[in-house]
Amino acid sequence: MKKIAIVYWSGTGNTRAMAEALAGGVKASGAEAVLSEAGQAKVDEVLAADAIALGCPAMGAEILEESEMEPFIVNLCAKGAGGKTLALFGSYDWGDGQWMRDWEERMKACGGALAAPGLTVHLEPDAAGIEACAEMGKKLAAG
Ligand SMILES: Cc1cc2nc3c(=O)[nH]c(=O)nc-3n(C[C@H](O)[C@H](O)[C@H](O)COP(=O)(O)O)c2cc1C
Repeated sequence: MKKIAIVYWSGTGNTRAMAEALAGGVKASGAEAVLSEAGQAKVDEVLAADAIALGCPAMGAEILEESEMEPFIVNLCAKGAGGKTLALFGSYDWGDGQWMRDWEERMKACGGALAAPGLTVHLEPDAAGIEACAEMGKKLAAG
């Protein structure tokens, strides 16, 4: 059975809702979804999955959350995100998605292959946002 790791950080639950919807899409495709928060996730276990979805809202000034997500991404890139199929997602509010564009470039630069464009949702995901997350999960499971 294919295993998809989903690692996310969420302060107020919006990106968590995206992560859970993505996991639902993975499971609907008959694959295993392993969901973990960035502060608890183990890089080696995550890298053992067939594909990895990473979720983080826009924080700071268009950056990743600095205490848990940022160090996780640094480790992931150092230990070989390169060669893995990745998908990025997250919620934002007042910006124009710059954090996601920067994050996509960064993950490509460390060798990750993005399965789809980064998925961004304004604040709490609505039904269309939830559906888009589930579709991303299905795509990872199929890839
Ligand atoms: C400290 C902080 C910094 C933020 N910085 C940005 C930002 O730079 N750009 C943006 O579009 N939204 C920014 N936001 C808004 C969050 O991205 C938005 O509220 C998001 O829905 C939070 O997702 P979460 O519920 O998963 O934590 C910021 C929120 C906080 C609390």
